[in-house]
Amino acid sequence: MKKILCIVGTRPEAIKMAPVINLLKSDKSIQVRVLATAQHRQMLDQVLNIFNIEPDLDLDVMRPNQDLTTLTARLLNGLNDVLIVEKPDIVLAQGDTTTVFTAALASFYHKIPFGHIEAGLRTWDINNPFPEEMNRVLVSKITNWHFAPTERSKLNLLAEGVQEDRIFVTGNTVIDALFSVIKKSAEISSGIDPIKRLILVTVHRRENFGKPFEDICAALITLLENNSDIQVLFPVHPNPNIQEYANKIFGGHPRIVMCKPLDYLPFINAMQRAFLILSDSGGVQEEAPALGKPVLVLREATERPEAVETGAVKLIGVKYEVIVSEVQKLLDDNNMYESMLKGGSPYGDGRAASRIIDVLHKYFDKQKIVEG
Ligand code: UD1
Ligand code: UDP
Repeated sequence: MKKILCIVGTRPEAIKMAPVINLLKSDKSIQVRVLATAQHRQMLDQVLNIFNIEPDLDLDVMRPNQDLTTLTARLLNGLNDVLIVEKPDIVLAQGDTTTVFTAALASFYHKIPFGHIEAGLRTWDINNPFPEEMNRVLVSKITNWHFAPTERSKLNLLAEGVQEDRIFVTGNTVIDALFSVIKKSAEISSGIDPIKRLILVTVHRRENFGKPFEDICAALITLLENNSDIQVLFPVHPNPNIQEYANKIFGGHPRIVMCKPLDYLPFINAMQRAFLILSDSGGVQEEAPALGKPVLVLREATERPEAVETGAVKLIGVKYEVIVSEVQKLLDDNNMYESMLKGGSPYGDGRAASRIIDVLHKYFDKQKIVEG
């Protein structure tokens, strides 16, 4: 029986790999093994629990405030040990994290074909997002199957010289994940005033640490002062670079609800309840349009231009004045707000995982013929 090793490290990878892992598990012709690198610990475990995925192997690499170089080294060492023992026929991973980069590289060293889910996203600026854009570019050089979520991501790969017969436009598995849990979505427990307009905020990107994050926080405080009918919900990423400043600046503010990262189901509920979402997250830029919620992206560049083009998402950067004015416009101008709601979801139909697995089946079938 052919063996596929699925590797997950962080919260968004687990969310986006879960539909693939669970579909593979129901396929009796393939043996699936799940490796958690645990680049994230608590946030990864949260998601794996929700999707009933118990990893077969766990590298437990997370350290407090980990730096990229030692994280990369720990991951490569751990992955090497696993690949020596497991000898999978294929390795699959999703996205652009250090886990994914090292998974692709270790697979290459072991001459194991690598399938990249969510391939071809590009900002064309190697420092933005950092280090994710470089991770994506490097992973593409190693990948056998590029599972591109959109036609745009396919074009990006073609522009870099990737062979067309290795690219498969599948949609994004984040939509599969969202559809699979949407009916189960759980209420956020406490602190939300149903009368006020809710602004949901998430921030975690490395390029937003320091001054950009200070500007984001200052803008939120100004907006709260100027609008007595809004409330901010801010699930704070556990990265100490975000946590420490957020606690210092927002602690005790009567209309900012700060909490630990929400479990996936209550987070979906929070998105559904939000009037507006401010975020630098990749996944949130994809999910919110599918839920009909507008997102202002707190970044200078996005690798997800599709929803910007439909109008569901607006890229506003991280300057204090711009954040204040862009949010205020949406609070005041109902026509502008409504036009964002009509943007729609460009990231798939919820059947990405089955398209990915079909491609791998065809590969195994061909191999069987060759092996006789
Ligand atoms: C990582 C990814 C980023 C992805 C994000 C998703 C890299 C370089 N970064 O960024 O691409 O968008 O995950 O959230 O691959 N921590 C905890 N508990 C957790 C998770 C993190 O305490 O469950 C803290 C730890 O102190 C850890 C720190 O956050 O050292 C940073 O984690 P890391 O994975 O390096 O970076 P993220 O900012 O989470
Ligand atoms: N998410 C969550 N709880 C939160 C914030 C986000 O479950 O408190 C989910 C969100 O629905 C999305 C994913 O986490 O699917 C995005 O992860 P993150 O923003 O950390 O990473 P990125 O997508 O930017 O890589």
